[in-house]
Amino acid sequence: MLVIALCKGRFLEPSLAALARAGIRFPEDVAASRKLIFESEDKKFRAILVKPVDVATYVEYGAADAGIAGRDVIMESRADLLQPLDLNFGHCRIAVAGPTGSTSIDGSDHPTVRVATKYPRITIDYYNARGIPVEIIPLSGSIELAPLIGLADRIVDLVETGRTLKENGLEILEVIAESSARLIINRAGYQTKRHEVLGLIRAMEKVVQCESSI
Ligand code: PRP
Repeated sequence: MLVIALCKGRFLEPSLAALARAGIRFPEDVAASRKLIFESEDKKFRAILVKPVDVATYVEYGAADAGIAGRDVIMESRADLLQPLDLNFGHCRIAVAGPTGSTSIDGSDHPTVRVATKYPRITIDYYNARGIPVEIIPLSGSIELAPLIGLADRIVDLVETGRTLKENGLEILEVIAESSARLIINRAGYQTKRHEVLGLIRAMEKVVQCESSI
């Protein structure tokens, strides 16, 4: 049996839909249940439900053979994984943003730019690569609030529609990376469960190809 780690929250329904199209169906209403482990109808797969930031950890340590997560959280985790497939949903951008009219990614009044984010590693890498001293203000949500009340000069956050930025008087200053849902695979499992893992990758690949040809 292959274990697949899925994100709770907004990725869950599209992940289940993609799995269903690949022939992996779960008899129970996974999204409505409070259970955390589900077996597929054919008993060949077990889905476990975890927080989005934890999917890469479960897969890296082999507690799950595969997972579906956003590229944003995979990048932030720095986990050592195989990433064979872009599943083509959950598109968004990881971007630096600041108050509308800001001209640069560094804070104008401070030698060190204070950046609020739930992506501290991505943010440090980004600013270090540009030689700009940065202080990370770690937050776990409502990141857009930080520059509005003087907690930070800039933010690094996900932008999907851009509505949250706009309604809070912020704008994108630079896009760091594009993100979408990825299938991730445990490295050891790719060798030891090769037949099953390749079966999963190929089934998901067909789903993505069918959708992009519509
Ligand atoms: C995410 C992200 C932005 C918002 C972007 O937050 O952190 O705040 O969505 O979406 P938009 O561009 O379509 O407005 P989420 O809804 O996950 O809530 P959070 O503030 O708790 O992180």
